[in-house]
Amino acid sequence: MTIEYLHASKFGNGAMVAEEFKQQMATRGVAVDVHHIHEITPKALPSADLYVFSSPGRMGRPIRGMRRFLKGLTLPAGTKYALLTTEMAPRRDKKTGRMPTEEEICKFQHVRPIMNEALQGKGLVKVAEDKVYVTDLKGPMEEGWRGKVAAFAALIPHDVGMIDAGRTTTDPRSRENASTASSAEF
Ligand SMILES: Cc1cc2nc3c(=O)[nH]c(=O)nc-3n(C[C@H](O)[C@H](O)[C@H](O)COP(=O)(O)O)c2cc1C
Repeated sequence: MTIEYLHASKFGNGAMVAEEFKQQMATRGVAVDVHHIHEITPKALPSADLYVFSSPGRMGRPIRGMRRFLKGLTLPAGTKYALLTTEMAPRRDKKTGRMPTEEEICKFQHVRPIMNEALQGKGLVKVAEDKVYVTDLKGPMEEGWRGKVAAFAALIPHDVGMIDAGRTTTDPRSRENASTASSAEF
């Protein structure tokens, strides 16, 4: 199994997440090829069993470079993908001290929904999704972020879309379980 990991890190947090994911998957014997989106063209990506896309948030959306990159993708329908974004952690309201509700966050924060829409619009199939929080605009990341990356790595079905040890392992149930398990949207 091979994974292409495409990120659009600006301040380095997303690049650290990518490296951590790569190390986590290496312990499972899975090779992850990490690229910043500026190093590679979306129209000629190396072939892989799974593509992981990672974007920082900008004004509620993925950073512009990632939006363009996803628009330019030419991967075949049915290709498996996963999202692991870096996003601003929800903060307490300065006046009331209250944390925003999920509903309130959803009104502003559309990073992953926009990425999912772009990818699913091209027929790609999601196997996992999560985010790592940054605690300020440029980082650092939340405490325990490596553990979050490990949990995300554990969501990646080891048999995604490939012939594994002589058996065809595209059982849609494993995909379904993976996407259900990754339902933590915020
Ligand atoms: C101008 C600006 C706007 C931002 N807007 C958002 C946002 O709307 N949502 C969000 O989750 N993060 C936002 N962020 C924080 C980014 O998520 C954060 O910079 C990024 O995750 C850090 O990752 P990187 O170090 O890989 O670039 C913003 C950051 C900047 C500088």
